[in-house]
Formats: sequence, structure tokens, C-alpha cells
Amino acid sequence: MRKKVTKAIFPVAGLGTRFLPATKSVPKEIMTLVDRPLVQYAIDEAREAGIKEFIFVTSRGKGALEDYFDHAPQLEQELRKKGKDDLLEILKSTNMDSGEIAYIRQHRAMGLGHAVWCARRLIHNEPFAVMLPDDVIAAETPCLAQMVEAYEETGGSMVAAMEVPEEQTSSYGVLDIDADHGSMVSVKGMVEKPAQCTAPSNLAVIGRYILSPNVLRNLNRIKSGAGGEIQLTDAIAQEIGEDGDGVYGYRFRGQRFDCGSKAGFLQATVAFGLARDDLREDLEAYLMEITSSRRAAE
Ligand code: G1P
Repeated sequence: MRKKVTKAIFPVAGLGTRFLPATKSVPKEIMTLVDRPLVQYAIDEAREAGIKEFIFVTSRGKGALEDYFDHAPQLEQELRKKGKDDLLEILKSTNMDSGEIAYIRQHRAMGLGHAVWCARRLIHNEPFAVMLPDDVIAAETPCLAQMVEAYEETGGSMVAAMEVPEEQTSSYGVLDIDADHGSMVSVKGMVEKPAQCTAPSNLAVIGRYILSPNVLRNLNRIKSGAGGEIQLTDAIAQEIGEDGDGVYGYRFRGQRFDCGSKAGFLQATVAFGLARDDLREDLEAYLMEITSSRRAAE
């Protein structure tokens, strides 16, 4: 029997400079997608995949993120007094019980691999998940739950994967495919942000990982890679071959939004808005109106 994946690391130490000036005082992960902060989508997805412990790797200025997961007794009391049970129910999903959540500081921005390594003392000899909240995935079965199911078959380390246009491969970790089994591929190499026209495929790593604890040991020794940063991709790649547990890419079913970019965030806002019964009609009417008036103007 494989050990269950019950811990997830959320690297959230980034400055979010692409969203300045908003991120001057608001952590990027707290920015709102419809009516919930970005990070709540990742937490909900993690819970549905059986995650019980949530480890955030944060940095200076992320206080609002820590407060967000606290109970809010005064607010709850007010809502109870006013009989707003629906809102109380919504608030419940944001509360974390004591001991369920941990915050670790990354003191210097040294890359994703370094951020994950900062959480090493909270992970013992067990597989763990890593979730990048910037990657928001709309899916019938949440992406991490799909991966946990697939991981039960393969073991090793698994990354979420998605085909991207060739000219975008230099923005991602990219898989060198050994054998392609459809939703699952076995991997014979991984390159972080390959230079234009050098990517081994157009199958890119998306921010969901299930990793063998060996990856943390690899991170102890790894040297800086692409962009002068300690790369998680490089530490995972060391699991390929005879000495490692194997690496797999998993083509998830669902739509991924890159909420680390403004265009991606706006697209996600529209898509999640349209998915909501209470917003669909108004939003759809508005979108129709502006697209037809733009067409008429052209
Ligand atoms: C990170 C990873 C990269 C992965 C990407 C997915 O890059 O380093 O391998 O493809 O997330 O979003 P970042 O976007 O943080 O530069």
C-alpha cells in the first residue's frame, strides 16, 4: 500500500509584481476571483483530494493571507445575530482548525525549489503535494484528486501537464517524453524554461505536483538553475532513471487559467462568473452586448 498524500505545500512568497500597484498592500493570493481569494480555490481543491495539512511558504507582507484563514468570532457573531446562515456557511469553508495550517517564511526569493525546501522539516518520509495557487484549474473532478488517483497506480513523482503552443514553452518546465500513454506519460527528462526552439516537447508542467520525499533530499544538494534560481524542476528531474522513483506527467481533464498574468486572471473571472447561477444571466447579457457593439463599430 502506498502512503497517502495528506500534506500540501503552497509556495506563496512571491512579490506579485505583475499586479502592482494592487500587490503593494494586498498579497496576490488574496486577490479576488469573483468573490473568493485566489488561494481559496487551491485550498478547496486540496481538501477534495484528501489533503489534511496545509503548509504555506510565505514572506514579509503576507499577513493578510494568515488572517484570512483565522476564525472571525466577531463577524460570525454579527452574522448569527442577523440570521445570515448562508454567509456563515460560506465563512466556514475559510476557517482552518488549529494545527491544520502552518506558515514557514522564505527569507530570500531564491526560486520555487528553494521555497519547497523551506518546508522540509514539516514533511517526513512521505509523498506530498505542491500547489501553485496562480494556476487555477476548473474541472469536474478537481485536478489534484485526479492526480492522487493516478498516483496510486504509479508512485514516484507526478506533475500536472498540459500542451502549450511551442512559442510559449520557454515560460514553463517542459517534459521530455519517454512513453506516452494518453493521460499518463513517463518522463525521461525535464527542462525548466528552455530557450526558444530547444524545448524537448510542448508538454508543459502546470502547478500541481505529487512528489516523492526524495525530491526534498535532492533539493539539499541542488545548484541554481534557470534564471539563477533553485528550480523544483531540476530536483524532480533527478528522480528519473535507475536511482530515482520515476517521474510521470499527468494530462489532467479541465481548463487551466494562468492567474499569474492579468489576461489569465480576467479570463478566469469571466469563466468562473459564467459558471455561477447567480451571475450567469447578467454577465452573459453584458458580454453579448459589448461584443456585438464592438463588432458593429469595426
Ligand atoms: C513555475 C515552475 C514551472 C511551471 C510553472 C507552471 O514557474 O517553475 O516549471 O511550468 O510554474 O505555472 P513560474 O510560473 O513560477 O515561473
